[in-house]
Amino acid sequence: MTEGTDSFPPGFLWGSATAAYQIEGAAREDGRTPSIWDTFSRTPGKVLGGDTGDVAVDHYHRMRDDVRMMADLGLNAYRFSVSWPRVQPTGRGPAVERGLDFYRALTDELLAAGITPSLTLYHWDLPQELEDAGGWPARDTAYRFAEYARLVADAVGDRVELWTTLNEPWCSAFLGYGSGVHAPGRTDPVAALRAAHHLNLGHGLAVQALRAALPARARIGVSLNPSAVRPLTESEGDLDARRRIDALANRIFTGPMLRGAYPADLLADTAHLTDWSFVRDADPATAKARLDFLGVNYYAPAVVSAASGSDGSRHDGHGSSDHSPWPGSESVTFHQPPGELTAMDWSVDPTGLYDLLVRYAREAPGTDLLVTENGAAYDDKPGDDGAVHDPDRIRYLHGHLAAVRRAMRDGAGVRGYFLWSLMDNFEWAYGYSKRFGAVYVDYETQERIPKSSAHWYGQVARTGVLPY
Ligand code: NOJ
Repeated sequence: MTEGTDSFPPGFLWGSATAAYQIEGAAREDGRTPSIWDTFSRTPGKVLGGDTGDVAVDHYHRMRDDVRMMADLGLNAYRFSVSWPRVQPTGRGPAVERGLDFYRALTDELLAAGITPSLTLYHWDLPQELEDAGGWPARDTAYRFAEYARLVADAVGDRVELWTTLNEPWCSAFLGYGSGVHAPGRTDPVAALRAAHHLNLGHGLAVQALRAALPARARIGVSLNPSAVRPLTESEGDLDARRRIDALANRIFTGPMLRGAYPADLLADTAHLTDWSFVRDADPATAKARLDFLGVNYYAPAVVSAASGSDGSRHDGHGSSDHSPWPGSESVTFHQPPGELTAMDWSVDPTGLYDLLVRYAREAPGTDLLVTENGAAYDDKPGDDGAVHDPDRIRYLHGHLAAVRRAMRDGAGVRGYFLWSLMDNFEWAYGYSKRFGAVYVDYETQERIPKSSAHWYGQVARTGVLPY
């Protein structure tokens, strides 16, 4: 790394991020009912080791200590998600006050500690009853989502300024309904496309509901996981593979959300699967709701080529399944980019983050950008001294923060950065086997041990200075 010491502007948000199902536990308490992730993780063979979020890192009972830990580290923002089945167990009807009380208490604690709360409404835990009624491939789910958004806004709208509708809708649609490696584990390409559309619609309807319910100072956005997709070569075939994946990973969401239309090439690429008649005329315009910020979640780039009789192996970083998460573009081959890998086998490449920030600054002019997730899993464990040393993660964070700063110098209006994750947690289909935390969690005792990266990042947060 040769970028040198660099300062971030005052007011920059230095946060960490988590999600309800990954940390809360207390799966059966205070009226909470199963979400699709409870059902999926209890289905044999779906999650490594049969792990579930039943206990997770017990954040539901340790919330005050966890907030104190963030404050002690020096962080000034925290991105968390609300568990839909805790607040509205059947996905319909009135809210459960005990469920909302947890988020009232959490946001009170954060504000008292000087930490800006950033609330995500949907981080993948759809109430099981809504899945039973059709899930995201069903149009009604979009309306249910907007109704739930309103309930949460009415409860904590006075104390939360940053609101995110959806987290990584690509994963909800294509891993949930396409490849089936995420809940609910369906493997139907058309259902995945329908899900993507109803997520777009639900996003737009939720933004409307939030604008109606929240004070004017509220800032509303969405967190996407855009793919920094590169062609293997400059050949026509590889460039076309890049275009296809860019359509399915990125423009399928930014088309409606930023421009109010689905890209013509996406419709053409999938025309043999569906005529998209599930899209009603006004829907894309509804999805294009005014955004105050666009959240970018970034981990690693993707390299693609046209199929060329290769071994057919998939290195798209999205788990293994006999079913592709890329409807109509199953023939595209993903390649492992060269260089260093994390414990997820994801390559370490900060340039991908730079490219995405510069791209979205251009595509969404006037909209703030937030890095709502960035981080890495490594095989961390306590040493003989009881401390957890994770120099790889420090290097990863350093490189990516330098890329953020560079994008800012080149015109990207990035207002904050949220490290994924505050602490080790339930990594979806990988269970507890992958540790993304800046804080180590001993899953037997629930002891938290800040890793050296947590101290390093806290120092950056306190000073706003990225050291050499
Ligand atoms: C993105 C997701 O939003 C988060 O839940 C997940 O744990 C991280 N990526 C790491 O895979």
